[in-house]
Amino acid sequence: MKAPKARHAYYLLLALALGLCWLRGYDSAMAQTKPTPHFKARVHGRDGDPWWKHAVIYEIYPRSFQDSNGDGVGDISGITSRLDYLQDLGIDAIWITPMYPSPLVDFGYDVADYTAIDPLYGTLADFDKLVSEAKKRNIRVIMDLVPNHTSDQHPWFRESRSSRSNPKRDWYVWRDGKGPGKPPNNWESWFGHSAWTFDSTTNQYYYHYFYKEQPDLNWRNPEVRKAMYGVMRFWLDRGVAGFRVDAVSRLFEDPQLRDDIILPGKNAYGDPNIKHKYTDDLPEVHDVLREMRHLVDSYPGNPVLISEADEPNIRELTRMYGKNDEIQLPMDFQIADVNRLSALNFRKLLHEVEHNTVHGQPLYFFSNHDQPRQWDRYGDGVHNDQIAKLMATLLLATPATPLMYYGEEIGMRTTPPASKEDVQDPIGKFGWPEEKGRDGERTPMQWDTTKNAGFSTADRTWLPVPPSSAEYNVQAESRDPHSILAFYKRVLALRRSEPALRGGSCIFLNKDNPHVLSFLRKNPGSGESVIVVLNMSAEPRDIVLSLTPYGITQKKLKPLLAAPEIGGESISNLTIAPYGVLIAAIH
Ligand code: GLC
Repeated sequence: MKAPKARHAYYLLLALALGLCWLRGYDSAMAQTKPTPHFKARVHGRDGDPWWKHAVIYEIYPRSFQDSNGDGVGDISGITSRLDYLQDLGIDAIWITPMYPSPLVDFGYDVADYTAIDPLYGTLADFDKLVSEAKKRNIRVIMDLVPNHTSDQHPWFRESRSSRSNPKRDWYVWRDGKGPGKPPNNWESWFGHSAWTFDSTTNQYYYHYFYKEQPDLNWRNPEVRKAMYGVMRFWLDRGVAGFRVDAVSRLFEDPQLRDDIILPGKNAYGDPNIKHKYTDDLPEVHDVLREMRHLVDSYPGNPVLISEADEPNIRELTRMYGKNDEIQLPMDFQIADVNRLSALNFRKLLHEVEHNTVHGQPLYFFSNHDQPRQWDRYGDGVHNDQIAKLMATLLLATPATPLMYYGEEIGMRTTPPASKEDVQDPIGKFGWPEEKGRDGERTPMQWDTTKNAGFSTADRTWLPVPPSSAEYNVQAESRDPHSILAFYKRVLALRRSEPALRGGSCIFLNKDNPHVLSFLRKNPGSGESVIVVLNMSAEPRDIVLSLTPYGITQKKLKPLLAAPEIGGESISNLTIAPYGVLIAAIH
C-alpha cells in the first residue's frame, strides 16, 4: 500500500468535492448514445493467449460485499449469491482479499492459518462452492497470498517466540537490541514507529514491516519457503486461478541490519521520514518470484501471479516481470496514483509501460482497499459522475488487464469515519486526525435502497453504509441508461465485441495535447479500428485526428459510445465536452 502521507491531499479534495456536490445535475443532463446489447461471457483463451491477458479482474473486500447471515459482516456465501451480478457486469475473475482465520488486527492481512477459512466468512465447503459456482459463470477466483508476515497468533510464531532454541525460531527475524530499550537499528514500520518489538520471553526483538501483530517471516530460511509454497499448492489444488501476492517487495531485509536513510520531515505518526532502502525491493525478492512462478506454471490453466509492489518507476516495475519468468501482472501504482487528470502524465506513463522492455502485460487499477476511491481522487466536485465514466474508459479501453474495485462501477465514494471513536482500521486510530485510516474505502457495497443498501439485514454493519447509497446503488443505476453502472457495462461489452479493443495495438495520437488523451486501437486484422478520446479538462476541446500515417483513410467515425453525445462525426471536426468520452469505430 502507499505511504499514509499521500492520503491527506485526497481528503482535502473530498471535502471540496462534497461542498460542491449540490452543483450536480450536470451529469444527468448528459446524454449517451443508445445502449448496445449485452454480450455473453467469452470463451477464455480462444486466440491462444493466456486468459488473464484479456480478463477483467474485480477486487472484492469480503467483509463488505454481501452479508448472507445477518451478522453485519460480508461472507463467502454472500459473494456466491452475487455471482450473477458479476457475470452480467462482464467480470472474468475475482480477487478476494484475505478470508483466512485471523485476529483481524489488519482485517485479515494478519493470517493465523493459511489453509483454512475464518468462520466469520464461512467454511472451506462454502469456498469450494464459490469456486464451482463461479466456474459455471466463467469467473475465476484469485486468492490473496500474504507471504511477508503472519499474525503473531499463528502457531509458527507462537512456537518461534517460545524459546531461542525452538526449531521455528529462525522462521522469523529475531535480533538483539543495541542496549536496554534500544532496538537493533532505526528501521520503521510502514504503520508507524519502530519496526522492532521487544519480546521479554526471550529478551530479543522481532522485526515487523507492518503492525507489531504481523511479524515478518524469514524468507532466507528454506523451510519458510517450503511451507509457503505448500500453501500455494493447497489453494491451486482447490481450483483457484492464481494469487495476488501481498507486499511482495518487502520479503527480505539487509542481513547486516544497516540503518535506513533519514529524510527531512515527519510522517503522519510523528516519526522521522525514512527511505526504506534496506527493507524494500532487495534483489533476493526476485529469486522467490521465480520460484513462485515456476510453481504456478506447473499447474494447468495458466494460473496468474499479481504483485502488490508500489514500484516508483518503469525500470523497477519492469523488473517484476523478470525475464517473463516472475510476475505476469504487476499492479501499476504509478498509473493508479497520478491523482489528477493530466493527459500528459497519463500518456507518458501508459506509453512507458505498454512499451516495457520485456513486453510484459500491464495491469491498471485506480482504486483498492488501501487508498481513497477514484471518484474522490479524480473527481473535481462538479463533474464527478462524468469523470467516473472517463476513468472507466481509461481503465477498460487500453490494452492492459484492468483491475476494478467493488463499487467503482456505481460511483461509490470514500466515506471516512466521522470521529476517532468510529475508526476500525488501526492506522486511523494511531494517526487520527491526519491519517483517518482505510475505512472510508471499505464501506459496504450499495445494492439497493432497502435496509443497509441491501448489504445486510443486521441492525449494525461493521462499517456504516454511506448516505450516498440512496442515489448510488446497483438497483437504481440498472434502471438508468445514463448511470455510471450502465456506462461501465457498455464499455465492458465493447471490450468483448470489438476485436480492436481486445487485441489491437495502442497508438497515442496528438501527443502534445495537454488536455485531451486520444489513442487508436488498431485492428490486428483488416476490420474496423477503434479510437478513444478523453477530454481531461473542464473546457470543451476541439481536436483534429490525423490517422493516415496509421493506414486509416476514412474520415467518418462511427460512435460506439459517447458521454455526452458528440455533434460532429468527422475526424477533422470533433468537439469533446468537458471530461467527455468518445469511443468510435473507423476503417
Ligand atoms: C498490503 C495490503 C494492506 C495490508 C498490508 C499489510 O499493503 O494491501 O491492506 O495492510 O499489505 O499486510
